[in-house]
Amino acid sequence: MKTPVRVAVTGAAGQIGYSLLFRIASGDMLGPDQPVILQLLEVPPAMDAVQGVMMEIDDCAFPLVAGLQASDKPEETFQDADYILLVGAKPRGPGMERKDLLEANAAIFSAQGQAMNAVASRDVRVLAVGNPANTNALIARHNAPDLDPRSFTAMTRLDHNRALAQLANRTGSHVTGIERLTVWGNHSATQYPDVTHAVVDGKAAGELVDQSWLEESFIPTVQQRGAAIIKARGQSSAASAASAAIDHMRDWTLGTSGDDWVSMAIPSDGSYGITEGLIYSFPVRCVDGRYEIVQGLEIDAFSRERMSATEQELIEERDAVKHLLP
Ligand code: NAD
Ligand code: LMR
Repeated sequence: MKTPVRVAVTGAAGQIGYSLLFRIASGDMLGPDQPVILQLLEVPPAMDAVQGVMMEIDDCAFPLVAGLQASDKPEETFQDADYILLVGAKPRGPGMERKDLLEANAAIFSAQGQAMNAVASRDVRVLAVGNPANTNALIARHNAPDLDPRSFTAMTRLDHNRALAQLANRTGSHVTGIERLTVWGNHSATQYPDVTHAVVDGKAAGELVDQSWLEESFIPTVQQRGAAIIKARGQSSAASAASAAIDHMRDWTLGTSGDDWVSMAIPSDGSYGITEGLIYSFPVRCVDGRYEIVQGLEIDAFSRERMSATEQELIEERDAVKHLLP
């Protein structure tokens, strides 16, 4: 067994938290030989509920849980944290866009950025799940100037997984047979799920699906999947979001497989002409606990237009929260 690591989760009594914590505790995120100390954050009115969640974690008798604590103070929750999953935020309801949450949620991420700057491990890995996830990660990052900017990521893995499922259904294949799919940009309705470089069971995806299906069905379905789930369930996605968070952190830490890549929203270094510093989703490979953007992909005019549209939205979101970016 390895030495225990500290995993902080905010919004621990919420719907995503209720799926996520049990998967982290069972070893799905960091592996079956990695004990975890869970450090939970909630707001004061939810402290009773979080105590109930902790009772249930205890009752699972997970072999990998080496410690469990909860607080309503970010400085306590983030103390020495090696991993921070920022889930605690308001979800959107029917008819809203994720960026409509910016005002309600932005303040949470500036305060929590400051707290992790003060007390988290210097090698912390941070994942923003709470919406609008990319810009919330940007806010946290700017409020944590002593931490490596590359520590701050946002979740587009749910979009990536949704795109895999749509393409697998259409081509009569299995998600495990699909490689090199990318989601570019923002976790929002402007995101660009891109199959240009994707391979399905060894064949170029472009030979198996036509452009009209991509434009009229695939892209809008993936872009609007969150809204479709809210309409159907009356609440936003939770178990699939938790599963994507597990995938994101696992691949970042333990590595992506072979030559394949995954989508992660990370601080842009200017690759593919994307404005530096924006938290933009790129194709990445992870090795030895570090992610690297896949370079050298050819970008055609159709893709460029969509990549720029989602970049533009992120610039507008960034400008709307300028006052929170010290
Ligand atoms: P929820 O309302 O069920 O749970 C959120 C929890 O966060 C609540 O228990 C609340 O008390 C807590 N919280 C609020 N403010 C907090 C703070 N300052 N510190 C700590 N905890 C706080 O919502 P949910 O369904 O779990 O969704 C959480 C967020 O994740 C929402 O913003 C939602 O839109 C987002 N989300 C993102 C993705 C993605 O792919 N990036 C997918 C699904 C949901
Ligand atoms: C999702 O994509 O399911 C989440 O971001 C929730 C939402 O508001 O759509």
